[in-house]
Amino acid sequence: MRTIAIFASGSGSNAENIIRYFQSNPSVRIDSVWSNKKDAFVLERAKNLGVEANFFTREAFSESDKLHDELLKRGVEVIVLAGFLWLIPPAFIDSFTLINIHPALLPKYGGKGMYGSFVHEAVIQNHEKESGITVHLVNKEYDKGEHLLQKTCPVFPDDSPETLAQRIHELEHAYFPSAIESYLFK
Ligand code: GAR
Repeated sequence: MRTIAIFASGSGSNAENIIRYFQSNPSVRIDSVWSNKKDAFVLERAKNLGVEANFFTREAFSESDKLHDELLKRGVEVIVLAGFLWLIPPAFIDSFTLINIHPALLPKYGGKGMYGSFVHEAVIQNHEKESGITVHLVNKEYDKGEHLLQKTCPVFPDDSPETLAQRIHELEHAYFPSAIESYLFK
């Protein structure tokens, strides 16, 4: 049995999609969903799917071992970052396998501050013809870990950050869960 926790800061469409995907895999257990935002919609989505959902503070995350130790106690082995924005403390990197999704073709458009619509705005501003998603392992620097999967999509001249975000979300929903599964059972 592989036990996963999901970290997310926002709406949580990826978190929901991952929970649904693994419902049919008896070898995977989604233990819990965690957010650094009390009112993040991801917490509602998780509860509606019967998955425990918790808020955590900066103090519990990086100024103490509280969250780290809680996850170890639960037998969590893998942490999936599904739209999670804080840099991961070294203790987590040492104890867990962490898998992130980034809404662009890394190494372009990565790093601190490059998330969500900021990424899509920069891609459009630079007149890129192509964007995509990167699923990657997490190390101690933002967006620098080993790539597990990239998928591309076109960027059209009349795209707005919103229309591009929608195309990127479709790619994420199509490929993120199976990329996690392939890595876990490789
Ligand atoms: C996703 O597009 C994900 O790639 C992005 O946040 C969005 C979350 O959407 N992550 C980052 O930008 C991380 N740097 P969701 O809340 O609907 O899953």
